[in-house]
Amino acid sequence: MEINLQGLNNLRHDPIPERTEEEISVLVENLLGKMTIREKIGQLYESPHQGGIITGPEFDSSESVALIKEGLVGSFLGLHNTQQIYNLQKIAVEETRLGIPLFFAFDVIHGFKTIFPINLGMACSWDEQLIEKACNVIADETSHSGVNLTFSPMLDLVRDPRWGRVMESNGEDPYLGSVLAKAYVRGYQKDKLTDQNSIGACVKHYIGYGAAEGGREYNTVDMSRRQIFQNYLPPFAAAIEENVASVMTSFNIVDSIPATANEFYLKEVLRNQLQFNGFVVSDYESSKEIIEHKIAKDEKEAAYKCIKAGLDHEMVSQTYLKHLEELVESGEIDTLLIDDAARRILTFKYKIGLFDDPYKNVYDQPEQYYLLDETRELAREMSRHSIVLLKNKGVLPLKNDLSVAIIGPHSDNKEVIGGWGGVGENKDCISLLEGINNLGIENLRIKTAKGCSIEGDDTSGFSEAINLAKESDVVILAVGEEQYMSGEGYSRAYLNLPGVQEDLVKEIVQLGKKVILVIFSGRPLDLTWYDKNVDAIIETWFLGSESGNAIADVLFGKHNPSGKLSMSFPYTVGQIPVYYNHHKTGRPPRREDIFERFSSRYADIPNKPLYPFGYGLSYTTYEYSKPLLSKDKYIKKEPVNVKIKLKNTGVMDGYEIIQLYIEAQSFSVSRPVRELKRFKKVFLKQGEEKEIEFKLYPKDFSYYNIDMEYVIEDGKYNIFIGGCSSTDNGITIEFI
Ligand code: GLC
Repeated sequence: MEINLQGLNNLRHDPIPERTEEEISVLVENLLGKMTIREKIGQLYESPHQGGIITGPEFDSSESVALIKEGLVGSFLGLHNTQQIYNLQKIAVEETRLGIPLFFAFDVIHGFKTIFPINLGMACSWDEQLIEKACNVIADETSHSGVNLTFSPMLDLVRDPRWGRVMESNGEDPYLGSVLAKAYVRGYQKDKLTDQNSIGACVKHYIGYGAAEGGREYNTVDMSRRQIFQNYLPPFAAAIEENVASVMTSFNIVDSIPATANEFYLKEVLRNQLQFNGFVVSDYESSKEIIEHKIAKDEKEAAYKCIKAGLDHEMVSQTYLKHLEELVESGEIDTLLIDDAARRILTFKYKIGLFDDPYKNVYDQPEQYYLLDETRELAREMSRHSIVLLKNKGVLPLKNDLSVAIIGPHSDNKEVIGGWGGVGENKDCISLLEGINNLGIENLRIKTAKGCSIEGDDTSGFSEAINLAKESDVVILAVGEEQYMSGEGYSRAYLNLPGVQEDLVKEIVQLGKKVILVIFSGRPLDLTWYDKNVDAIIETWFLGSESGNAIADVLFGKHNPSGKLSMSFPYTVGQIPVYYNHHKTGRPPRREDIFERFSSRYADIPNKPLYPFGYGLSYTTYEYSKPLLSKDKYIKKEPVNVKIKLKNTGVMDGYEIIQLYIEAQSFSVSRPVRELKRFKKVFLKQGEEKEIEFKLYPKDFSYYNIDMEYVIEDGKYNIFIGGCSSTDNGITIEFI
């Protein structure tokens, strides 16, 4: 496509009029009334295009411009070049019969140009305000690139770090996932979708994708409807309460039916029960893939099953374009199904203002809006709060007058964007060494040695690294995964440090120096040996543009780490799945320190994870009072006020994430040993004490009962409040 260098510099962006739902409905119905069946079907197609970022099997997009001219494209995915978007939109608006604008969707998962921490890392901040602010500025950048909708947030609940996509999730808990789902949607969509800097959000992957058997990408998902409703659905329900624009279906089967053609979940649950009124988009060819799932014999049957089930918008594959019209003509499907789907797409386009200004997000010289200082500063703050201190035997924060060896393949590595990096570039990222140097600490003597690569078996760099370590006071070992080792299509069967990094660490540790392990990873890794043998461990995930600055801030105490794990770290890959909100079993081990053969445990490792959900250390210490209640018996419909006093008893100011869990002592079905129901992030100065109050309602004690009704039942409930899911700082109440 010849790039037209004209047009952008004379674009005006007048304020877009706000319309009521009713006004939009009238406009949409008028337009539908003028459209042919083929034009309506055209709105149901999301096309790829050369120049876009490819996120699936290769495709042929040679026809996409011709299809636009026939009015047969509703949107594009993966494009982010403003000029290209302008040129395609110009064809749609000026060279088609009805001039219906396109929308442009792109995977802006944790940043567009300024890259924020991977989502699993941001979830460890437990800071919905900060995440909303981050999404505000991510939307500011994205909305100047021509993109109108992001395929984010990903809301899959995850319990298996072998799965590569844990990196883009909010972790293993439905409540935390629900709170953060709202923050992402609010952050992207802002007060109104017509806002110049707003973008539509698309939550994914509906539903159950994170439970792929064996953590193997795209693998079978098979679980009870109760499990889906109790744990996997709540974040989607939360996003829908926040008026999310779109929902994306997942590749996997649910109840043995592919999610993309699953009428129960797409109609009964999403539309009738959750009252979702946006549009449903497939994942990349997931509609055509129901043939591979063996529930359709060809593309025609795939189109039939998906439109009947409630899929509105088909991504990349063209079963709708090819077969829907003949299915209508043969009477196999009712044209009203197509009207409903087209109506939702057109409604979104009106809501986001594209009919008023088709070039709403198209700007000349968009680079001027990217990587702004204040955006980088927010990314640095978000990164600081995403770091989790896993161990510290009095070695952190580092003092200034030290000789420090920074060793390992991540010592000075700028490839820290992580998976789904938008259009972020490694060159714009700060490496660990750069970050430490940026602090400009006097008397600090830094030397580095890579020692080895992340992958491969070359140990020729060991001796230089070992010699450097010998002459240093402290060794920082910067190790981990390559950034592409997580994300879509990258499941790992092992959770070790790749390559010969483990050997390097062991060689350094035996020198007897103070060793700090800085982990760069897209998932929980097996850190069991390191936990026993090094002095400190910090998990930094992939922090993006401000990575090195944020890590240096934590290492040298400019920021007191407050992150808490949003996903458990297993002892070993053999322990998976391991998560905090598990059921008790009929033979729970009575003690962790002795082996009871006839109890539910392993013979060779403890039952608990190495680091549990909600765990994270600080440079200071906190003291919790016992939870305080006004009374211990309640009738089921009244709220429960519970208070706690928290004191900073240590040597630094800091944030503490107070977590409140409940445990039903008995119920009509088995319930987990802990269920997160509230959390609050509190700043306390050194020596400061605060009283914190939580208000709990009947729905917080409710669960799907034996009849699948979400209810509270009489009986005793324990309430635990502390700085980790393993807290036993509790009190019991009774509902009568
Ligand atoms: C990919 C991913 C999905 C992404 C989509 C478009 O296959 O599964 O998360 O949004 O395609 O890139």
